[in-house]
Amino acid sequence: MRHFLNIRELSSEQLTHILDTAESFTSVDGQAVKKVPLLRGKTIVNLFFEPSTRTRTTFELAAKRLSADVLNINIATSATTKGESLLDTLFNLEAMNTDVFIVRHPESGAADFIAKYVAPHVSIINAGDGKHAHPTQAMLDMFTIRKLRKDFSYLSVAIVGDILHSRVARSQIEALNILGAKEVRVIAPRTLLPASVEKLGVKVFQDCKQGLHDVDVVIMLRLQKERMQGAFIPSEHEYFQLYGLTPERLALAKPDALVMHPGPINRGVEISSEVADGPQSVILQQVKYGIAVRMAILSLVISPEQNGAAIES
Ligand code: CP
Repeated sequence: MRHFLNIRELSSEQLTHILDTAESFTSVDGQAVKKVPLLRGKTIVNLFFEPSTRTRTTFELAAKRLSADVLNINIATSATTKGESLLDTLFNLEAMNTDVFIVRHPESGAADFIAKYVAPHVSIINAGDGKHAHPTQAMLDMFTIRKLRKDFSYLSVAIVGDILHSRVARSQIEALNILGAKEVRVIAPRTLLPASVEKLGVKVFQDCKQGLHDVDVVIMLRLQKERMQGAFIPSEHEYFQLYGLTPERLALAKPDALVMHPGPINRGVEISSEVADGPQSVILQQVKYGIAVRMAILSLVISPEQNGAAIES
């Protein structure tokens, strides 16, 4: 695994290996010194062309816990604002002996594009590209589900909201299907569903009452207004009335259903505060597990041969 660009190219065994590797790293969080020397001397660059709180910081923490050196490039104050191209920026950072670029970009396909041009020893991790893929988010979501529910094969999972513009939903659907989830549902108004969405391997619902019935996991998505051109819903108020996750609506799912959200959450738009902060919400656990999952992915792209030793130690 030189690069980590999307989920669909990976097998169930490979996804399970990432989850198992992440499991081995969760103990680092509980140590007095939260570090292992696995990536000492390696240089990791966070190259984010779009805003981020969770992904950027958990990648930085993950890299630091693996003892790597980390650079965070602030694109707003970088030479790209003076007209430097994406590839020229990349080649300059590569000249500093970078081992891994973690790339977030508003254009779908940006991480794949960059991966074609970097030197053979350099790895690219996709931290979200347009509405295409967000594979590390999907892996931390799978880690959270497996940690709390063990076995994917009996789980019905509903993904609710702006499926059309969501890179997270695409990667989650791929991961859930590859890992053998019993059923993946999407619930959204027609305007927020991609054409032929059922070809992704999902059951489609436009009505929450039917779609949430008896599911084990509810994953809420925000309205991704930064990727919308035009009006896709009449108003946020009306959207919340029809699709917002309230305690009453959550009661349609199994009584112990997990409530997940990749963040950032928009309270009162796709989820109520009672649910977001309630006993079934595992939203902050997702963030916490993101560190171990990103440690696993970094360790697997940089040093697959050393990783076995790290897991066993
Ligand atoms: N889930 C997610 O990608 O959050 P950020 O945009 O804060 O990184």
